[in-house]
Parts: sequence; C-alpha cells; structure tokens
Amino acid sequence: MSQLRLRFLSILLLYCIFFTSSFLMINALTCRPDQIQALLHFKNEFESDGCNRSDYFNGVMCDNTTGVITKLQLPTGCFTGILKPNSSLFGFHQLRYLNLSHNNFTSSSLPSEFSNLNRLEVLSLGSNGFTGQVPTSISNLILLTHLNLSHNELTGSFPLVRNLTKLSFLDLSYNQLSGTIPSDLLLTLPFLSYLNLKKNQLTGPIEVPNSSSARLVYLSLGYNKFEGQILKPISKLINLKHLDLSYLNIRYLIDLSIFFPLKSLLILDLSRNRILPASLSSDSDITPSLENLVLVRCDISEFPNILKTLQNLKHIDISSNIIKGKVPEWFWKLPHLSIVNLVNNSFTGFEGSSEVLLNSSVQLLDFAYNSMTGPFPIPPLNSIYLSAWNNSFTGNIPLSICNRSSLTVLDLSYNNFTGPIPKCLSNLKVVNLRKNSLEGSIPDELYSGASTQTLDVGYNRLTGKLPRSLLNCSFLKFLSVDNNRIEDTFPFWLKALPNLQVFTLRSNRFFGSLSPPDQGLLAFPNLRILELSDNSFTGSLPPSFFVSWKASSLKINEDGRMYMGDYKNAYYTYEDTLDLQYKGLFMEQGKVLTSYSTIDFSGNKLEGQIPESIGLLKELIALNLSNNAFTGHIPLSLANLTELESLDLSRNQLSGNIPRELGSLSFLAYISVAHNQLKGEIPQGPQFSGQAESSFEGNVGLCGLPLQGSCFVQPTQQHKEEDEEEEEDQVLSWKAVVIGYWPGLLFGLVLAHVIASYKPEWFGKIVGPDKHKQVDPVRLFMTLDSRWDSFNNKNSVEQTKK
Ligand SMILES: *[C@@H]1O[C@H](CO)[C@@H](O)[C@H](O)[C@H]1NC(C)=O
Ligand SMILES: *[C@@H]1O[C@H](CO)[C@@H](O)[C@H](O)[C@H]1NC(C)=O
Ligand SMILES: *[C@@H]1O[C@H](CO)[C@@H](O)[C@H](O)[C@H]1NC(C)=O
Ligand SMILES: *[C@@H]1O[C@H](CO)[C@@H](O)[C@H](O)[C@H]1NC(C)=O
Ligand SMILES: *[C@@H]1O[C@H](CO)[C@@H](O)[C@H](O)[C@H]1NC(C)=O
Ligand SMILES: *[C@@H]1O[C@H](CO)[C@@H](O)[C@H](O)[C@H]1NC(C)=O
Ligand SMILES: *[C@@H]1O[C@H](CO)[C@@H](O)[C@H](O)[C@H]1NC(C)=O
Ligand SMILES: *[C@@H]1O[C@H](CO)[C@@H](O)[C@H](O)[C@H]1NC(C)=O
Ligand SMILES: *[C@@H]1O[C@H](CO)[C@@H](O)[C@H](O)[C@H]1NC(C)=O
Ligand SMILES: *[C@@H]1O[C@H](CO)[C@@H](O)[C@H](O)[C@H]1NC(C)=O
Ligand SMILES: *[C@@H]1O[C@H](CO)[C@@H](O)[C@H](O)[C@H]1NC(C)=O
Ligand SMILES: *[C@@H]1O[C@H](CO)[C@@H](O)[C@H](O)[C@H]1NC(C)=O
Repeated sequence: MSQLRLRFLSILLLYCIFFTSSFLMINALTCRPDQIQALLHFKNEFESDGCNRSDYFNGVMCDNTTGVITKLQLPTGCFTGILKPNSSLFGFHQLRYLNLSHNNFTSSSLPSEFSNLNRLEVLSLGSNGFTGQVPTSISNLILLTHLNLSHNELTGSFPLVRNLTKLSFLDLSYNQLSGTIPSDLLLTLPFLSYLNLKKNQLTGPIEVPNSSSARLVYLSLGYNKFEGQILKPISKLINLKHLDLSYLNIRYLIDLSIFFPLKSLLILDLSRNRILPASLSSDSDITPSLENLVLVRCDISEFPNILKTLQNLKHIDISSNIIKGKVPEWFWKLPHLSIVNLVNNSFTGFEGSSEVLLNSSVQLLDFAYNSMTGPFPIPPLNSIYLSAWNNSFTGNIPLSICNRSSLTVLDLSYNNFTGPIPKCLSNLKVVNLRKNSLEGSIPDELYSGASTQTLDVGYNRLTGKLPRSLLNCSFLKFLSVDNNRIEDTFPFWLKALPNLQVFTLRSNRFFGSLSPPDQGLLAFPNLRILELSDNSFTGSLPPSFFVSWKASSLKINEDGRMYMGDYKNAYYTYEDTLDLQYKGLFMEQGKVLTSYSTIDFSGNKLEGQIPESIGLLKELIALNLSNNAFTGHIPLSLANLTELESLDLSRNQLSGNIPRELGSLSFLAYISVAHNQLKGEIPQGPQFSGQAESSFEGNVGLCGLPLQGSCFVQPTQQHKEEDEEEEEDQVLSWKAVVIGYWPGLLFGLVLAHVIASYKPEWFGKIVGPDKHKQVDPVRLFMTLDSRWDSFNNKNSVEQTKK
C-alpha cells in the first residue's frame, strides 16, 4: 500500500519536473511545486482540449521570492466547463492578475469565492458565458483597478463596485444588467477613466457630481433603456474623448450643442437617435477636436452643415439616413477627411465639377445604395476603397482609376456603366463590376504578380475569350464571369491557380468537352463552388471525373463556415457575393458564403453516365445536373453524400430505379428526378414522400408516394400537404433571396427568412453561427463594411433584422 503510494508520489514528482522543465522555462520557473500541482488540478476541472499546454503555463507567473502564483492568464478557448465554488482557482490567494477571458464557462454563475482573491488588481472574465448575478462579495476586491465582465449573460442589478475605489477601468458591456446606475458611481470611483455599459438593459438617470471625477475618458452607454435627461450630466464630463450614446431610448431630439463643452471629444456616436435639425445645420463650433462622428439612422434629411466646422474630422458615417440632393463641394475640402460613409441615402450626385473629389484627402469612400446618376466622378488621388454599388451611374468607368496606386477595392456593381473594362485590374485586390452593361472582352493584361483576389464581372455584355493572363493572378480566389457572352472552351488551365475557390461561368457560350485533355484529372486544388450551367458543354464525363477534387471532400472549418474573399484590414472589410441556383431557387448570396460546396452543371448538353466518383465529394451540399442528356443509372455512390441538401437530376435520360439508399440522406430537402426514364418504387421515407409530386413527374415507370398511383393496386389517398408544398415551391421560385451585411449590423444577415420559414436547418447552414456576432458600430465605422444586396426588397431587410 505505502509502496504504491510512494510510487504515485514519485510519478507526480516526475510529472512536475517534466512540466517545470519543458513548459515553465521562463515565467513559471520560480513557481513552487505545490502551486504547479494546484494549477494542474485547476486544469483538470475542465475540458481542456482547446488548451495548448505550453501556452497554459506561459500565462503563469509566480513571485520570485515566495514562489506563489501571482498572475494567471488562460489562453483563449482553452477551458470548457463549469467553474465551481470549490475550484482550486480560489486557493490562489496571492493572485494579483487573473484573466480567464474567451473561455467557455457556459452556465456557470460567478462564484462568490472570487472574494478570496482579495489581492487582485486585474480581473478579466469577458466572453465566457457566465450567467446570473454578480456576487456582492466582489466588493471585497478593493485593490482592483481593472474589471472586465463584458460579453457574458450576467443579469440582475448593477454590481456592487462602490468599495472598489481604485477602479480605473470597468467594462460590463454586452450583458443583461438591469436597473439603475448607482447615482454616486462617479463620486465613489474617483479614478474611473473607462466605463463601458453598452448593450444592457440599464435605465437612467445618470448623475455626475459637479466638481470631481471628470477623469472619465471613455463612456459607452449605447443600447440601453435610459429614459429622461441623461445628456446634461454627461456634458459635465469634460475629459471625455470617446462617447457612445447610440440607440438610446430617449424620445426627445438631441441637441448637438449639448456636447459643446466637451473640448477633448474625439469620437462621438449618436446612431439611432434623432437629432435636432437646427443643431445639425448650425455653423457654430461644436467641438473642433472631433475626429470621428457616427450618425447612422438618425433620420437626417439635409446634409449636416455643422460638418463644415469640424476641421479635424477624419471619419464620418452618415449612412442610412434620408439625405437628398447633392453632396456639397465644401465637404471634400475638410483637410483630414479619410473615411466617408454615405451609404443608403438618397443622394443624387456631387456638387461641383467631375474633379470635385480629386484633391480630397479621402481614402475610403463608400456611397453605395444611393440614387446617383450621370458619369462617375474622378476618384480621390489617395483612394484605397471605392464603393458605389447600386446607383445609376452611366458612361465609362473612369480610366483615372488606373493611376490610383493605393486603390485596393473597387466596387461599381449594380450601375449602368457601359464601354470596356479598364486594363488595369491587376493592381486591385477586389474588382466588382457585376450587373452593368460593360462590353468588349475581359482585358488580357493581368500582369505577373497581380494582386487580384476577387474578380466579378457577371451580368454584363462581355464577349471574347477568358483572358489567359488570369494565370498571372495566383491570389485569385473568386472568379465570376456568369451571364455574359463569353465564347470559349472550358479553362482547364485555370487549375494552375492554387487559391481558386469559387468559379462561375453560368450562362455564357462556353462549349466543348468538360473531360480533361489527355485523360488528365480535373484537379483544381481548392475549388469549392463550380457553376457551369447554361452553356453548351458537350460530351461525357469520365468515371474518375471527380477523383481529385480535393477541396470538396475536405472537412470544413470547425465553425462550419468558409469565408470567401473576405478582405479585412484595419479599415475595411469586403466580402464576396455570389448567385447560386439552388432548389429551383435563384439566390443572390450576399457577403458570406458558408461552408457549402456546390456543383452545378445544369443546362448543358452533357451525356453518358454520371461519374460514380461523385460519391467522393463528401461535403457536397448541392448538386444540379438537370437539363442535360445523362443516361444510365443514378449512381449508388450519391448515398455517400451525406451532407447533400439539394439534388436535381431532372430532365435527363436516366433509367433504372431510384437507389433505395438515397432514402438515408437525412439533410436532403429538395430532390427532383422529374422527366427521366426512371421506374420502380420511389424510396420511402420522409425525404422522398415529403417532396412535391412534380419532383417525380415525367417518369412513366415510377410509383409510390408522393405520386398518386401506388405501386400496388390500392385505393389512393390524396394528401393535403402536397398541395401546400407545391404552393410553397412556387413562392420560393420567384422570391430571390438576399443575404446581406450592413454597417454596424453584422448580425443583420437577412432576407433568408424566405428560406428559414421553409426549411429552418437550411437557414442555419447559410447563416451559420455568426448570426449572433455583434460588432461595435464605432469599430465598424472604421471597417466601412458596406455591401448590401437589396435591389429586390428594400424593406424586408429591416423587418427581418434582429
Ligand atoms: C503551442 O504554443 C506554442 C507557443 O505559443 C507554439 O509554438 C506551439 O506550436 C503550440 N502548440 C500547439 C500544439 O498548438
Ligand atoms: C524579483 O522580481 C522583481 C520584479 O519582478 C525584480 O525586481 C527582482 O530583481 C527579482 N528578484 C530576483 C531575486 O530575481
Ligand atoms: C467540488 O465539489 C464537487 C461536488 O459539488 C465534487 O464533485 C468535486 O470533486 C469537488 N472538487 C474539488 C476540486 O474539490
Ligand atoms: C486577457 O486575455 C485576452 C486573451 O488572451 C487578451 O486579449 C486581453 O488583452 C487580456 N486582458 C487583459 C486586461 O490583459
Ligand atoms: C461551450 O460549452 C458548451 C457545453 O459544453 C457547448 O455546448 C458550447 O457549444 C460551447 N460554446 C462554445 C462557444 O464553444
Ligand atoms: C473586455 O473583455 C472583452 C471580452 O474578452 C473584450 O472584447 C474587451 O475588449 C475587453 N475590454 C477592454 C476594454 O479591453
Ligand atoms: C465598503 O467598505 C465599508 C468600510 O470599509 C464597509 O463598511 C462596507 O460594508 C463595504 N461595503 C460593501 C458593499 O462591501
Ligand atoms: C451643480 O452645479 C449647478 C450649477 O453649476 C447647481 O445648480 C447644482 O445645484 C449643483 N449640484 C450639486 C449637487 O452641487
Ligand atoms: C436604409 O436607410 C433607411 C432609412 O434610415 C432604413 O430604414 C433602412 O433600414 C436602411 N437600410 C438598411 C439596409 O439598413
Ligand atoms: C487639385 O490640386 C492640383 C495641384 O495642387 C491643382 O492644380 C488642381 O487645380 C486641383 N484641382 C481641383 C479640382 O481642385
Ligand atoms: C439603368 O439600367 C436599367 C436596366 O438596364 C434601366 O432599367 C434603367 O433605366 C437604367 N437607368 C439609367 C439611369 O439609365
Ligand atoms: C461510400 O464510402 C465508403 C467509404 O467511405 C466506401 O467504402 C463505399 O464503397 C462508398 N459507397 C459507394 C456506393 O460509393
């Protein structure tokens, strides 16, 4: 017995030495063995598959004389599980710094034992899924200077922080705290400089003591339920630099002059409030220091003249207002203007000559979704990001874009541009010229080392061949030339592009065989979406056709999503758009492409057997081979496509039975095998019997549900559901579906409700886990995220937004 025990101890010792020597080289070198043991205990209280052990110990620091742990910072995503009151964590009495943020303590409440750690100076528990009330014992942590409880699900009243007199930093944002803010908060926390209460359910009033405590530099009260007068007190906080009052619940108009006393203010966000019009048109000095002004959705109807006085303005966001007329000429003369967001107003154009923007300091300029007409203005010299999608500009795309060396993103989609595509696309990362009336061929001038990642020239009148110089664009991820008049053979040569993920050729005049020359493999290394429909491809596909389509059979990211052409830098985000034809449903897919892999070869003249190797594309979500001349049987291997949600084999010459095994494809929401020569019984099971009758019509030999005639001689029963189903199908087929992002509302993934109400799982797949993602409008303002596919249904975007 005792020998065993000894052995156990020595193993433990070895274990400690192992950890000490290999992982605790620097920081934790001075830690006492019992402390390390306690740390291991702590780790074992949780599921820690996400943990990198060396990172775990890297975040540990011990006092170099006593050897006790004084600092603990978990790597993000390390722990999952419940933080229990008897956790070994609460034995680390000497902790001064504790950062557990970005882990998963879902449904743990905050144990009151945190009060044991009364040496703490920094406590950061953000983004952890903590629930319930903040224990009152938190008020024992009187040495705290930094407390971050944000992005949890904390409820109840404002935490008891009165005694935390050293606090300078308090972040309680993104919780569900309710009730009032303690009236003496600022009096009792004299050192407080950062206070973030955004996205709670707090109510007013707010009191600011007359004299003191004007140390507050950052204040965010956005998205709460404040009523009554809160602005007056705030105007006493004369050291404020950053003030977020977006989405207040106040009913009166905000008079901007209330902020005049805030001479240090740099950032002001008043989005979703109504502003007193007179205070917007005044030309008095509000606060000359202001650099960043966000007035999204403020019902502003006139261009705010007050901007004229803001000579330090760098970033302005007045998107989603109702401003009419032309953008005034003086605006572009503001000396520091850098980011301008005018999206979703009713602007008709620009005052001044076509060169009015030329000398402006603007770098990121977005005036998408307005009513601008006429020729496009000459872009600012320093343009980096230029977006004007969804206006009615006419004439040629200005050649001056070709000598804007910083230009990275050019989005002129959904306008009425005519003439040729400029020959300088290589410089740009993103070129979106979709839905214009451009003519000629795609310029064959892409130079070696071109930075192009997205090229979308769909829905124009382009002719000629695909330019061979596309081969120079080794970064190309997204290539869309659909709905043009391009006449070419299938570009097998594009397989040399290592990053190509989306490639759509739909509705052109491509012809010839899809079968790779000299029996080679059609090996695109990263292709996920290939759309060839409505061309004139001929011939048969060899059985091995899909063998080397690696990407489509790849496991997709953990979060189930794949971001396409998603270009982020400090200032902007751009995400690609793609139309997908799916379930007889034409989707304009805005911004986010989720994990799907789809193959659409419909509307060609393909013949022969469907290659059995299709069964290798295990991640395939949609397969459309309709309207061809495929013969032979439905391949049994389709039963291996377990993610398949949409399968269209209609209008071919397929024969034989529908393989019974297809009944096991549990995600299948849409099937059509109509107009073939199939026979026998339709496989039974919910996936098949739930389909419309029309999915099976035109096959003389088929029988069984949902077709009316049973396979056996029996009285038939008409199902009511079928009628409904059919009706629903029709509705779906004419509603185009749009999914979009909107500045400040990344969770505004929308309009897919058409699908959602039809098939919830499907919606889940499209929108993915990100639908809950929330983004700080101020930060978003900087990212100028602005694409939105709305040409179809402007209003329902608003309705379906969360
Ligand atoms: C753990 O983190 C270290 C340093 O951060 C890194 O070098 C190592 O590759 C990581 N190990 C794993 C398995 O991620
Ligand atoms: C212990 O750490 C302190 C500060 O971290 C440092 O000033 C001191 O020199 C260290 N003492 C020893 C013995 O390493
Ligand atoms: C904490 O208490 C639970 C019971 O609530 C028990 O199962 C667990 O072993 C205890 N953990 C520690 C570290 O003492
Ligand atoms: C806490 O840890 C997170 C993630 O490791 C880090 O981003 C954050 O800056 C840390 N917070 C503090 C206050 O150090
Ligand atoms: C957190 O853990 C719970 C329970 O294990 C799990 O259901 C959930 O998906 C996890 N959340 C995240 C963001 O990892
Ligand atoms: C507080 O923590 C959250 C979640 O980890 C983080 O997003 C936020 O930036 C932190 N607040 C500050 C001001 O560091
Ligand atoms: C705050 O501190 C005072 C005196 O130190 C003490 O009497 C009081 O109970 C404390 N309040 C809370 C809420 O802990
Ligand atoms: C604060 O000052 C204003 C005038 O500056 C005065 O009317 C008010 O009574 C003062 N409030 C307090 C609490 O002293
Ligand atoms: C465009 O602006 C109008 C007016 O503020 C608003 O109602 C609408 O929801 C906005 N559209 C989007 C997509 O935000
Ligand atoms: C732009 O600046 C250049 C050089 O400073 C000047 O010659 C030109 O007239 C300016 N153009 C406009 C439209 O202001
Ligand atoms: C732009 O083109 C569309 C479709 O071709 C047309 O309906 C519209 O009238 C045009 N607008 C202008 C301003 O030319
Ligand atoms: C389905 O896949 C399994 C293994 O992944 C394979 O053994 C089987 O032959 C496949 N079935 C068909 C019909 O291709």
